[in-house]
Amino acid sequence: MRFLFLVLLTTGVIYGQQQPIEFPHNTHMDQGLECVDCHSTADTAAAAELPSVTKCMLCHEKIAVDAPGVAELREFAKRGHEIPWIRVYRFEELAAVKFRHAAHVQSGINCVECHGDVGEMTVAMPVIKHTMGTCVNCHRKNQASDDCVVCHY
Ligand code: HEC
Ligand code: HEC
Ligand code: HEC
Ligand code: HEC
Ligand code: HEC
Repeated sequence: MRFLFLVLLTTGVIYGQQQPIEFPHNTHMDQGLECVDCHSTADTAAAAELPSVTKCMLCHEKIAVDAPGVAELREFAKRGHEIPWIRVYRFEELAAVKFRHAAHVQSGINCVECHGDVGEMTVAMPVIKHTMGTCVNCHRKNQASDDCVVCHY
């Protein structure tokens, strides 16, 4: 138990992402949800977006109210606050990267290819490293543009 705690603590520190609530993707995917049920603009807009507390409460008004984490979730909802999730994938502001989900998802690239199997994870981890090299490689392979201005502001 203490060992497990230490492992969680260390990975949290390494990735710098102790989330305010431990949101398990795996148990939620077991409910038959799809990625876009929560990340609702992943196939239509630049950002995939994170779900609002209101969306969580569609289920957690009644479901699993005593489960660990759900009491905290309900507390956020009661106060009308969003959960301050810590971002898992994000580029340095200075790199001025322009990324657009829609174009990628619409051309048939799976979430898994760029994020790993998040649906199987208890804690979302940045298992795929995105660098300029990985972006450009795939663009060249798919005859997509490798112009600087396509990916940079
Ligand atoms: C071609 C690679 C690629 C694909 C495919 C992709 N993503 Fe992403 N995703 C990224 C990158 C890169 C970021 C970080 C973008 C940034 O910080 O500007 C990101 C960020 C996110 C975020 C953080 C919030 C946001 O809106 O930026 C979520 C949630 C997300 N992706 C979910 C998904 C889901 C769900 C799918 C499948 C429907 C998906 N992604 C497909 C590369 C991808
Ligand atoms: C479609 C209904 C549904 C939605 C929407 C939903 N949940 Fe859940 N959630 C469940 C169910 C069912 C369980 C119980 C799963 C189990 O015990 O196997 C659960 C369990 C949990 C748990 C307990 C931890 C665990 O290991 O199961 C947390 C925390 C949680 N949800 C947070 C959230 C958050 C945060 C959101 C919004 C981003 C959300 N849920 C949206 C159905 C939902
Ligand atoms: C019930 C709602 C729900 C579903 C369904 C869901 N997610 Fe999420 N997702 C979240 C929440 C809440 C977060 C923020 C907390 C976290 O990072 O663990 C998140 C975070 C993420 C992130 C990290 C975003 C970032 O950069 O901070 C990725 C990537 C992601 N989800 C991909 C997926 C994929 C792929 C699927 C489908 C296999 C999926 N999600 C299904 C609610 C959901
Ligand atoms: C797995 C392959 C793959 C990866 C990885 C990838 N891309 Fe792409 N990207 C594509 C393809 C294919 C297109 C062309 C889509 C089209 O023609 O509609 C594209 C198009 C784009 C566009 C144009 C979007 C638009 O709305 O016209 C931008 C911007 C972009 N990618 C940025 C990035 C960045 C930044 C990264 C790295 C974080 C990245 N891509 C990683 C395959 C990829
Ligand atoms: C397909 C997308 C893509 C293209 C095309 C692209 N870049 Fe990038 N570039 C990125 C991404 C993503 C990063 C951030 C990588 C990271 O955070 O590790 C980056 C990082 C950089 C950085 C480093 C910024 C910093 O603060 O460290 C520079 C400089 C840069 N790019 C210049 C260019 C130039 C010049 C071109 C044209 C010859 C170009 N890029 C073309 C995606 C791209």
